[in-house]
Amino acid sequence: MKVGVGCDHGGFDLKAAVVEALRELNLEVVDYGTHSRDPVDYPDFGRAVALAVKRGEVDFGVVICGTGIGISIAANKVPGIRAALCHDPYSARMAREHNDAQILALGARVVGPGLAQEIVRAFFTAQFAGGRHQRRVEKIHNIEAEFSSC
Ligand code: RB5
Repeated sequence: MKVGVGCDHGGFDLKAAVVEALRELNLEVVDYGTHSRDPVDYPDFGRAVALAVKRGEVDFGVVICGTGIGISIAANKVPGIRAALCHDPYSARMAREHNDAQILALGARVVGPGLAQEIVRAFFTAQFAGGRHQRRVEKIHNIEAEFSSC
């Protein structure tokens, strides 16, 4: 399974720990940047990872910025994408089980590398539960369709 990883300068240092945890889970990592601490704009990297998921270039994604907020908002603007900002393993597991999130968002100025790796493990070892959750996920995308021409 392939996982696209993207970050801004605020998330750059945490990306290495995230990549390490992903590789330990035997997941293939595709790095969409950024590749240094030089200032960049988080929407560019949220968009790149979300688009890669949407196009099927990768199966899942992890996006990282300082808080995780901006990059998750950006990723969620790509239709069909569900990016979940999680700063604890329970939320990360639920993001997969209940919300079928394809992208995990992390804030590098909020969590340290050890906790981030636990969050990654929780997200990538959980499965979507389906059933009533499927209906709710579909309702999310009905909202997207309702406002697509606005
Ligand atoms: C960059 O300074 C910072 O604004 C960004 O990493 C992120 O936290 C935005 O939501």
